[in-house]
Amino acid sequence: MSDPARILLPLDEGLLELPDGPMLFIRPPAEIPQELAAREGFVCEQGFKPVAERLEARGFTVVPMAEGPFSGAIVELTRNRAENMANVARAVRMTPPDGPVLVSGNKTDGVDSLLKAVRKATDVSGVLSKSHGKVFWLSGEAPAVFTEWEAAAAPKRNPAGYLTAPGMFSPDKVDKGSEALVRYFDKSIKGAVADLGAGWGYLAEQVLAACGKIESLDLYEAEYAALEVAKVNVTDPRARFHWADVAGLGKPATPYQTVISNPPFHQSRAAEPSIGIGFIAAAARILKPSGQFLMVANRQLPYETALEAHFKHWEILEQDRAFKVIRARRPKSAR
Ligand SMILES: C[S@@+](CC[C@H](N)C(=O)[O-])C[C@H]1O[C@@H](n2cnc3c(N)ncnc32)[C@H](O)[C@@H]1O
Repeated sequence: MSDPARILLPLDEGLLELPDGPMLFIRPPAEIPQELAAREGFVCEQGFKPVAERLEARGFTVVPMAEGPFSGAIVELTRNRAENMANVARAVRMTPPDGPVLVSGNKTDGVDSLLKAVRKATDVSGVLSKSHGKVFWLSGEAPAVFTEWEAAAAPKRNPAGYLTAPGMFSPDKVDKGSEALVRYFDKSIKGAVADLGAGWGYLAEQVLAACGKIESLDLYEAEYAALEVAKVNVTDPRARFHWADVAGLGKPATPYQTVISNPPFHQSRAAEPSIGIGFIAAAARILKPSGQFLMVANRQLPYETALEAHFKHWEILEQDRAFKVIRARRPKSAR
């Protein structure tokens, strides 16, 4: 994980002062220093709902997408280079020439190559290293190339015709696992349906097209930007869109007949089966007692114990070297 205190290093060392007035922090981790919350007009831009909720709980003002202007900005790197370049360009665009923009990131998130690219484009005022990463800062007019950096990360139609952007799940081509799950979208799927971790909407669009007896489809997605393009990709009026953390879903007033999902398997670089296990538990919570859960997962992910714990019956419908398609019925938590 990135060191949340790294961002304060240039201030602690007396190399930089934060300006008065509103400041923006793009993609802050949940653990950013509490002292920042006390600054007047301090805004966090965090489109990932679980982190946004944790920041809000600590008293920060959080928006999924900021507009500006701000008197200064901070950018924390994500794992996606195009998104990082666009965020640096946006931060510079939203601040005045004398407003500092600080950028912090881990080596593993590509901070060194990003710094190199920024240096090629404009002057960098300072750089410090800490905790396997770097913080650097700049100010001044935005160089012309920053417009291209922003455009490169903007949503575009992929070869299959869906609107997607870098940083989203499988933006350039439909995921093979998702494609396999779609083959099981049959007439047993009807009534109220939910798609957990809907991404840019592939499964949602396919299930609505295949299953005429679906009455409503709730898409739950944690990444705000992905949900926004899903609204363009899924135009069927039966679809409803929720910016939500699936792990936090409670029992709904009207439980679902079917839940579909290709659950996420990591937030950082390593596989984190606990996220998918949380999705399995959530599916069981929100289903009717007679409901079914259709999911696809990387074959090596250990979901069997969770399926056993949360469903009376489950079976592998299909598997190959890469993924397995699973149907689970009769959730144990639905009584
Ligand atoms: C493997 S992708 C599947 C996307 C889409 N259903 C598909 O098949 O192309 C999983 C999705 O879950 C989202 N996600 C990750 N953590 C989440 C959470 N806690 N709550 C809701 N969605 C989450 C990710 O942003 C990602 O879009």
